[in-house]
Amino acid sequence: MPRLCKTLGPDPPGRWFVSGYRRNFISDYDGLAGQWWDPRGPLAPLGWIARARAAFVPDADANAGTDAATGAGAPQARLLDVACGGGLFGPHLAGKGYRVFGVDLSATALKEALGHGFDAVARADITRLPFADESFDVVTAGQCLEHVQDPFAVVAELCRVLRPGGTLIVDTIPDTRIARLVAITLAENVPLPGRPARGTHDHRLFVNRERLARVARSHGVELRLLGLRPRFRDFIRYLAGRRQEVRMVPIQSTSVLCLGVGTKR
Ligand SMILES: C[S@@+](CC[C@H](N)C(=O)[O-])C[C@H]1O[C@@H](n2cnc3c(N)ncnc32)[C@H](O)[C@@H]1O
Repeated sequence: MPRLCKTLGPDPPGRWFVSGYRRNFISDYDGLAGQWWDPRGPLAPLGWIARARAAFVPDADANAGTDAATGAGAPQARLLDVACGGGLFGPHLAGKGYRVFGVDLSATALKEALGHGFDAVARADITRLPFADESFDVVTAGQCLEHVQDPFAVVAELCRVLRPGGTLIVDTIPDTRIARLVAITLAENVPLPGRPARGTHDHRLFVNRERLARVARSHGVELRLLGLRPRFRDFIRYLAGRRQEVRMVPIQSTSVLCLGVGTKR
């Protein structure tokens, strides 16, 4: 049901909007500075997904890279995490051997990312990445395609900056009724720890999986799609205050949370 809500961030400051009609102010993320790392705060589930995403990142040595193969003195393999937010992915990349770059529009989020395993960050729009073609060994985009007007333009950009043989990992919320029920109706309204702020998601921006795969393919990346769900036991213990994090497990169904991984031709 439409509801009158206020934006969270300073820019625009506390603007009123009718939930269901106008969502996804980028400034909302600026307003969440300081909450990125709260294990029971509104961004907590992003941390759970970040851990699951990291399992798909190959070790840099195993990456048949242009430079990694040349041995001593070769530049370090490069991973780009687009819309990196407060850097929740960073700690999970430790030991994988990458120089980690992040971009986001939220300046306050980027500041947090720098303190959490990101080597360099830039304030940039993910629909126009400020990087040369084929300049990264791994490109990741976690939980951001469902926040932009044209997610497929972003996918094209991700593929452009990825080198041939490099790995692309994207995860997002698909345009299904069940995703809308779970990610908006339940997740944003049931008062539990880790609840995202009301208006975090706009179902009209949820991503069509077939088109996601098709666009990636047309840019040289065959995505394997799989789903993720919280481990139920962890979730119960989390709600009871007996765990600080919920592990996500891979599943076949991509209808609520969908992760795609592929190698560029
Ligand atoms: C749900 S958060 C995900 C953050 C991070 N990827 C993670 O999984 O923890 C979405 C992020 O996308 C960023 N964002 C949204 N639209 C963007 C755009 N057009 N360009 C850059 N960043 C954007 C927001 O600032 C926010 O940090």
